Amino acid sequence: MYKNSYLYSYNYDTNESELCKLEAKYLFQKEEQDKLLFSEIEVEPSSSAFIKKRLHITLCSEDYSTLIQEIKAAEIKVEGFKVEYLVLDGDKTEYKERLKKLKDIGYSIEGIPDYYNPTITYALTNYNGTWLFGVLVKNSFDWHKHKQKPFSYSNSIGVHIAKSLLNIATKGNKATTLIDACCGVGTIMLEACFAGYNIEGCDINWKVCRQSRANLAHFNYTANVYRSDINDITTNYDAAIIDLPYNLFSCADEDTLTHIIESTTEITDKLVIVSTIDISEIINKAGLKIVDHCTIQKRRMANFARQVWVCQKLD
Ligand SMILES: C[S@@+](CC[C@H](N)C(=O)[O-])C[C@H]1O[C@@H](n2cnc3c(N)ncnc32)[C@H](O)[C@@H]1O
Repeated sequence: MYKNSYLYSYNYDTNESELCKLEAKYLFQKEEQDKLLFSEIEVEPSSSAFIKKRLHITLCSEDYSTLIQEIKAAEIKVEGFKVEYLVLDGDKTEYKERLKKLKDIGYSIEGIPDYYNPTITYALTNYNGTWLFGVLVKNSFDWHKHKQKPFSYSNSIGVHIAKSLLNIATKGNKATTLIDACCGVGTIMLEACFAGYNIEGCDINWKVCRQSRANLAHFNYTANVYRSDINDITTNYDAAIIDLPYNLFSCADEDTLTHIIESTTEITDKLVIVSTIDISEIINKAGLKIVDHCTIQKRRMANFARQVWVCQKLD
């Protein structure tokens, strides 16, 4: 039942749980349960802020000695391997027993292990009484480096949100062409470049355009940033992400928001929009259907929440 599927382990704060579930829905067509998700679909853990680890299950058995026999029968030969024990909720296996099991597996694989710089990491875990064995890949969290970008604003969208918006807009399909319609200093663009997406950015403000270009160059990413009103962009894209202005540094009256959304609807059929207010009427008036919606409460700021609107152009 579990063989050849992937087990994903999740971690998220309660304020981000709606966003995490929405992301899982678009990546896997299902939600995680108790911070675990089984799927046939392969997703790179580092492309999400919420996926901690991915176990590709190659062998499984309810009986531990059968599993060991199967590992031996697989005749795995690899230099520099490592084996870890993944402790899931409800697994009562004692620490000593876990170490013994790791040794059993180590002796069933041909090659010299390397605990500090492994070429491959295998893992053993017990899920509801079934032993699962396979290849473990962890979120590298390399993308945390983007938090130290040269230019940023205290109210810029968070990196976690940026990564989720990309996964929602693309369903993990790297061939999706994307426009960040109000790119600001490029928070979303950095995550897109990191994950290998084809993205372009646009912003009406020349100063933030310069800053987003500098941010991209700082991490050696290449992507076009257009200093333009989104209304003047004529290229078509598979999807757009819009982090709408709110009345802090830029004007965000109803006319401005309508202008941005209606202009973006001219160049794409799929829009993932972030707002700080209810924009459902503006979305409907632009001829879009709201397919999904979620709220992200800002930590320690009870009266500030971001809303994510997944929209599709009506035929
Ligand atoms: C909330 S900020 C985006 C922040 C961005 N996500 C970041 O990481 O910095 C909204 C941006 O929309 C831009 N903007 C406002 N009207 C626009 C328009 N008509 N076309 C393109 N950009 C516009 C503003 O200049 C502002 O930088």
